[in-house]
Amino acid sequence: MLLALAFTVSRCIPFTEEDLSSEDRLWALYERWRSHHTVSRDLDEKRRRFNVFKHNIKFIHEFNKKDEPYKLKLNAFADLTNQEFLDHYAGSKIEHHRIRRGEKPEGEFKHGHIDIYKLPASVDWRTQGAVTPVKDQGKCIAAVEGINQIVTKELISLSEQELVDCDTTDWGCNGGLMDHAFEFITDFDNETALQQAVANQPVSVAIDASGLAFQLYSEGVFIGPCGTSLNHGVAVVGYGATQDGTKYWIVKNSWGTSWGEQGYIRMKREIPNNRGQCGIAMSPSYPIKASLIPSDESKDEL
Ligand SMILES: *[C@@H]1O[C@H](CO)[C@@H](O)[C@H](O)[C@H]1NC(C)=O
Repeated sequence: MLLALAFTVSRCIPFTEEDLSSEDRLWALYERWRSHHTVSRDLDEKRRRFNVFKHNIKFIHEFNKKDEPYKLKLNAFADLTNQEFLDHYAGSKIEHHRIRRGEKPEGEFKHGHIDIYKLPASVDWRTQGAVTPVKDQGKCIAAVEGINQIVTKELISLSEQELVDCDTTDWGCNGGLMDHAFEFITDFDNETALQQAVANQPVSVAIDASGLAFQLYSEGVFIGPCGTSLNHGVAVVGYGATQDGTKYWIVKNSWGTSWGEQGYIRMKREIPNNRGQCGIAMSPSYPIKASLIPSDESKDEL
């Protein structure tokens, strides 16, 4: 907890009630925030951005006063409206991907036989060296990097140029260059199956990332609000429970390290709705390692 607080404070601009007490102080806070996150805005735009910032900071302030299992912060996205944010950082391509996905043969879910009561109580692939640093990447890549490390013990950081990403090709996870190296298992659809899979490897999922609370998430276990209109690809790299027993998924995002818990979000696990929190269990997929990713130049030939 102390550690979590320490990085939160160092990675974002803390503010007090006093900072919100006048227009001048808010403006000074906005300038401090801009310089911390090196956000430049031209003069015309600045006034409008400042108004959005004011709205967001009040939202954060009011939210953090409440007794919620998670907190919000002034991250790098604090002067964007939620709509602007979604337009830039989430998309509607997931639907496309899901529709097209069905046209190709899918592998069979291979973890169904694993006794759910024998699964480890917590899994964190980051501690196994199977997860690369948070970067701007699509959801399939983290899952491919994960299984590649688990099988070869070599962690190779992939880029969109090296592997065609889920959200950017017609064939989604099944498509492009990935076809040659990986088969993606899809269509297991509830949180139990997701846990069985994540116990074995990082898993690509899609979520509904809508809402200002998600945009400004800082730390803790996210419990919504969010819907199940999938619009953003992420990867589940583990699961666990807090000391008070709240179960969560460890989710790797691609919005930089100023967002969330150094780029990660913990999302509530085992909710009554079998779609999972924000639809996390609706569209999972994981790669099966069919051939190795070479670590040298021959990667180009994959
Ligand atoms: C969960 O999904 C798995 C894999 O698709 C399926 O075998 C299982 O019956 C489902 N469990 C429930 C409770 O729906």
